[in-house]
Amino acid sequence: LRTPVCIIGAGPSGLLLSRLLKLNGIDSLVLERRSRAYVEKRVRAGLLEEGTVRTLRAAGAADRLDREGLVHEGFEWRLDGEHHRMPFAELSGAAVWMYGQQEVVKDLIAVREDEPGLHFGVEDVSVDAVTGDGALLHCTLDGRPTEIACEFLAGCDGFHGVSRRAIPAGKLTGHSRTYPFSWLGVLAAAPPMSPELVYAVSGHGFALSSMRSHTVSRLYLQVPPGERAGDRSDEAIWRELDFRLTGGTGALPTGEILERVLVPLRGFVAEPVQYRRLFLVGDAAHIVPPSAAKGLNLAVADARLLAEALSSWYGQGRRADLDAYAPTALRRAWLGQEFSEAMTSLLHEAPDEEPYSRRLRRARFAHLLSSEAEARNFAEQYTGVARR
Ligand code: FAD
Ligand code: DHB
Repeated sequence: LRTPVCIIGAGPSGLLLSRLLKLNGIDSLVLERRSRAYVEKRVRAGLLEEGTVRTLRAAGAADRLDREGLVHEGFEWRLDGEHHRMPFAELSGAAVWMYGQQEVVKDLIAVREDEPGLHFGVEDVSVDAVTGDGALLHCTLDGRPTEIACEFLAGCDGFHGVSRRAIPAGKLTGHSRTYPFSWLGVLAAAPPMSPELVYAVSGHGFALSSMRSHTVSRLYLQVPPGERAGDRSDEAIWRELDFRLTGGTGALPTGEILERVLVPLRGFVAEPVQYRRLFLVGDAAHIVPPSAAKGLNLAVADARLLAEALSSWYGQGRRADLDAYAPTALRRAWLGQEFSEAMTSLLHEAPDEEPYSRRLRRARFAHLLSSEAEARNFAEQYTGVARR
């Protein structure tokens, strides 16, 4: 089988890349390990930056997002019971949208309708060779062993995928940081506690109240590393969330817990993100701790950048945009890392944290709440304006 562009992974980045290429007249083949039902149900991120929404509109995949997505212009800090609003849209000129990642995935699959080239349940992709002219892969397609030759290979297969391993060990460096805490995320059939997100920092740890709609909440709890998703009872989760978010007043609306996920907090950047004709995109190239909700947004930005570069290669025979992919994607990835790390250390008290660090965090909050320049800088990063 021959294809101009082979894409491993049908997460948001792989699907979007394929769609944007198609709109520019470039065919691609997408190989996804999981089933369609699985990827459409995988609950993950939900905060979309304005730039992400613009890209999804350009892909013609934002009709439902524009109808059902919730536009947010601010959020609330709750710091040991004190409330402070962060009016990020007024400060940065950009809003954010709340809309589930699995809905983005569904919409991107739906817009391609019966178009060929998207294969689910392909569990044995192996990258045999990557050269200066293309790449060679093997996998089982429709029950038959198949060899795929492509001109460009896009690794959109997430942090645990195979594409990054196609870069020879001696040429790849992974930069990473692991945090000494995790997040327990729940999706619940309960209205959000307030119309805006609430980031709560208390002596008992961090908690976040987010949402997917007016009737479905997305809530996160800082938990010790090593905790498993099933360790706490539903009652214990609600009690702890209410304690951290409302001071234990019982004001947090509760409901059935529909889904739980344990998210280890980790930052990682692979360098390089390009090796010959292989380009790493999204989580395959870098992951961030979820604190600032940047993972999905960085993945979408990478996919758009690569789609534009390939379009100018095939359309105008230009190589410069392809050469610019790695430095541009890495610059943005590191800006995303930096803000995610800053927000993570602002929101969480590490186990065994010494009083000095606690005071430092308090000072950073005081600065953020009293200085408009500091608040604007934060808002520009939170909304992604700073990475444009
Ligand atoms: P993915 O969405 O990971 O997609 C990769 C795709 O490749 C998957 O469909 C996978 O099945 C497929 N694949 C993997 N290996 C192979 C293979 N060998 N062959 C073929 N296909 C393969 N970000 C936030 O901003 N906020 C959050 O709250 C948040 N929560 C998260 C919770 C969890 C549990 C996780 C894991 C991530 C979370 N993220 C969050 C990060 C965000 O979801 C990711 O940054 C985003 O999914 C990246 O998109 P992607 O397309 O690059 O990778
Ligand atoms: C969500 C996750 C985040 O990490 C965040 O900062 C905001 C929202 C979410 O999943 O809704």
